[in-house]
Amino acid sequence: MTTILSTPAAWPRPLLGETPVGHAPGADPADLDAAVRAGAFAGLTRALQDLGATLTTATLAESGLRGRGGAGFPAAQKWRAVAGTPDGVRYAVANGYEADPAGGTNRHLMTARPFAIVEGLAIAALSVGAEEAVLAVRAEYADAVAALELAVAAAEEAGYVGEDVLGSGRPVRMTVRTVQGAYMLGEETVLLKALEGRRGQPEQRPPYPSERGLWGRPTLVHNVATLAAVPWIVVHGADAYRAIGDPDAPGTVLVQVSGAVATPGIAEVPTGTSLAEIVGLAGGVANGRPLKAVLVGGPSGGLLPANLATTPYTFGTLRAAGAHVGSGSVVVADDRTCIVDLARLLTRYCADEACGKTIPCRIGLRRMSEIGERIATGLARPTDAQLLADLGADIVGSALCDHERLATGPLATGMRYFRPEIDDHILRGLCPAGVCTPVEVVAVGTRHGG
Ligand SMILES: Cc1cc2nc3c(=O)[nH]c(=O)nc-3n(C[C@H](O)[C@H](O)[C@H](O)COP(=O)(O)O)c2cc1C
Ligand code: SF4
Repeated sequence: MTTILSTPAAWPRPLLGETPVGHAPGADPADLDAAVRAGAFAGLTRALQDLGATLTTATLAESGLRGRGGAGFPAAQKWRAVAGTPDGVRYAVANGYEADPAGGTNRHLMTARPFAIVEGLAIAALSVGAEEAVLAVRAEYADAVAALELAVAAAEEAGYVGEDVLGSGRPVRMTVRTVQGAYMLGEETVLLKALEGRRGQPEQRPPYPSERGLWGRPTLVHNVATLAAVPWIVVHGADAYRAIGDPDAPGTVLVQVSGAVATPGIAEVPTGTSLAEIVGLAGGVANGRPLKAVLVGGPSGGLLPANLATTPYTFGTLRAAGAHVGSGSVVVADDRTCIVDLARLLTRYCADEACGKTIPCRIGLRRMSEIGERIATGLARPTDAQLLADLGADIVGSALCDHERLATGPLATGMRYFRPEIDDHILRGLCPAGVCTPVEVVAVGTRHGG
């Protein structure tokens, strides 16, 4: 059972719902009548009957909505790219994979607010001229799959999706597809290949999916949380959305706070909320222990120290600090955590999950993981910190997909913010947190080659 963390009453909740769009919290998520009474599908009606595709897309552009799948790309720009392709078959795909093992926001959204996603996807499909819409959901999320299947069936029965949307004569055929695989499956080109039943490795971009996506056709791919914001924007208007959160990336985000906090859970917060406030929503660090680091952005995220807890949660500020939004996971580490240990485990995970198609990623991440491993196990060489920095710099920028650029994050931020602790391991054979074992205690200069 997911805990939804309480947030100040004044904070708007376009995603989790506060009515009028969507259904009231606690209602049966598959109850279409209740959802419609609470405002669901008002956005679709307005987009189709009042605005039309051009104005709907213009509203989205003015709202400043950026994709919530991690990269923060302006949503309307993608819509225009897909809509601008030559006439023919186009697709709209909702990415409900949620690769991050510490993630859970997408699952909650799909399970609790399926109509908001169905409606957002229908508006998007109509706006870009896609007659086929696919909800691609992680197969392990049986609850989310069931909720979306019920929602699509009910919406089709009521004429909100299907062959003749709201009597307009325009079709949006919507299907729920389950996809199963490893971490990389959340990456959009891998997801599209999975939907085609092909082996999941990223494709070189460009061409982007907006030009050449599912079955080689122009495809709009959005994270489910991006789509769920669309009905709210269409109903309330661009200005209302822009008024929420950080002006550069307005709106709200779903965050999943876990690790050493008193009450792990999910919260919807305006962009620009500080990391400290987010941790505070989860009751702060458990047992009153000191905050040591916050892992922001999942396994390839950044380890930000306590003195950066004032960092606002936005795409730009997190990126500048060495972290990223990712799927919205915020993992709290207290003073008992060893940064070397945590960073090497995360790097190992990222190396294991890399698909192997690009050499700097396949070999570079593996080497970084091995170095992290030997630092943690007392076998470090004095040059290891420099080697990590060099490898990290070489890997970034030679990527086929964003995994390579992101996956150096834990060790890179470890080096940037926790260098004394890393040097303690490398040069003094000490693990200040007492986690790494065995760590050889040797005098400086007697270590391998030193
Ligand atoms: C390694 C990797 C994993 C990803 N996993 C996900 C994921 O689980 N869910 C998701 O929506 N986007 C994921 N993305 C981002 C997608 O490739 C894509 O940018 C996103 O679905 C586009 O949606 P948006 O415009 O709404 O952000 C991942 C990207 C990378 C590089
Ligand atoms: S960068 Fe890494 S994960 Fe991405 S395609 Fe290359 S090997 Fe695969």
